[in-house]
Amino acid sequence: MATAATDSYEGKPLTQLFPYEDRPGWKGYIEWEDRLDRKEVVRELLKRREFPHPPEFQFAPLPTTNPVLGGERFKAYHEAIGLNQIVDVSWETVLKEKPNMTHLLQFPYNGETKFEDLMKEKLTDNSLHFVRNHGGVPYIDEDALEISIGGLVKQPVKITMKDLKDSTKFPQAEVTITLQCSGTRRREQIEQYPGDGDELINAPWGEGAIGTAVYKGVPLKQVLKIAAGGVLPECQHIELIGADTYFKKGEVYNYAVSVPYRTVLMNERVLLAWEMNGKPLPKIHGFPLRAVVAGYIGARSTKWLYKINALAEPSMGPVQRQEYLYYTPQLGKQNVTYSNGFSIQDMPVSSAILSPTDKSVIIHDGHIELQGWAYSGGGNWVERVEVSPDGGHVWYQVDPDDMTEKHYYAWRLWKTKLPVDAEGWLEFCVRTWDSSCNTEPTFVRSAWNWDLHVTSSAHRIKVYSVNKMKPATARRLKELAEHGQGMEPLSRPLAFPLENADEYRANYEKHPREPKN
Ligand code: MTE
Repeated sequence: MATAATDSYEGKPLTQLFPYEDRPGWKGYIEWEDRLDRKEVVRELLKRREFPHPPEFQFAPLPTTNPVLGGERFKAYHEAIGLNQIVDVSWETVLKEKPNMTHLLQFPYNGETKFEDLMKEKLTDNSLHFVRNHGGVPYIDEDALEISIGGLVKQPVKITMKDLKDSTKFPQAEVTITLQCSGTRRREQIEQYPGDGDELINAPWGEGAIGTAVYKGVPLKQVLKIAAGGVLPECQHIELIGADTYFKKGEVYNYAVSVPYRTVLMNERVLLAWEMNGKPLPKIHGFPLRAVVAGYIGARSTKWLYKINALAEPSMGPVQRQEYLYYTPQLGKQNVTYSNGFSIQDMPVSSAILSPTDKSVIIHDGHIELQGWAYSGGGNWVERVEVSPDGGHVWYQVDPDDMTEKHYYAWRLWKTKLPVDAEGWLEFCVRTWDSSCNTEPTFVRSAWNWDLHVTSSAHRIKVYSVNKMKPATARRLKELAEHGQGMEPLSRPLAFPLENADEYRANYEKHPREPKN
């Protein structure tokens, strides 16, 4: 809670400093980018307080709670400028729209799809699709939204949602798109080598920070052409601004990123979308309007979109310029800058095994069934998925009949039966080949980077194989059953002798321990 010294600013209670509803019908939105005066006040207010460090979760085991992490620092930023309501509304929205997720970070909300839900269907149900937020969830009435288009366009303009959705004015498109956070599978990098702990927590995502939906909207290219008369020759990038509030190093912002204009020129690559899988966008996914940038890092798919600017350079927003940077492995806390990493754009090819899960004990008949996803960005589609039973020496191709159909911008779910003779701990892995013949690095370390982005190396799981086709194993399984015991927990000691005395003696006679002479 704010102390007496910090709960007001120049005599005004903090909660009255910035309007929760800056424009009628725009709740949870505060304009920052056009209000340098407000930014100045926030700078001063944030300087007044100490904020808790983000929790240490890379060098320590992850909490087993759900939510896993609280996000106390970002909650405190909001509280310090009187915007506690944003924090509360965000969590209420999660409970309404996303009750069945693994809640990795309570605020700003980051939620991952549970593995069994991810594999249910090619299209991820809206209530189960992962969420990555940098701030709270604005509630903007569709009728109140006006999207401003400005900067290097021929005619700056404002469009209502009614006009945007009018198919006689703007041509509509539906595209099947996989959104993937560049932090997907970050856990694997953390487990091997901890890296940057951003003030907005670099979430310890697993394999569920990915999802696929059919988005309906209007290609941004068409909106720029039809509504704004096209762009000026100097325009190279299109900035997309969202109505949420974001903090970075003592400053406040609206969420802003950009996409190269070259990309926007491909009709299907950048949509202004209002529908997800045939339904209005859920609030947490950007209702009433978001951008969806096909094949790109999820960060460019701006939610709660309300402003579009044509620019000569990429957006100055910190999410664009200071984050989602890919560093060479020896750069780290001692020497990273904003300019010595490159900006992550198209997502590379990657895949994951979702079933079985890591460290499972599997009793099988010489084959083990595997399931997972495979995806590639940049308009490359998934051509081939290969699985290995031995850590990446021998590879078996997944039968194309056991994969969902190809899309330019979406994943393929796959399943396969892998021949497995060996017993004990084995390392399975998967790799995918895309339509440009790209495949995945073999080991996490091959592509480890300080900000722990783009874990695209062959995904590995350890499984304990129990092949019941082997006579000795079949015998042991029978014994276990007779004693009312099972293979799990694997580490629990056997409560009966491993051999009876006669068997031991017979084996001893046949193969004495010591040489005879
Ligand atoms: N848009 C806004 N306005 N604010 C955000 O925090 N997060 C981005 C992107 N768009 C974000 C945003 C990131 S990092 C990702 S990965 C995707 O949204 C996730 O989209 P989803 O939450 O709909 O799955």
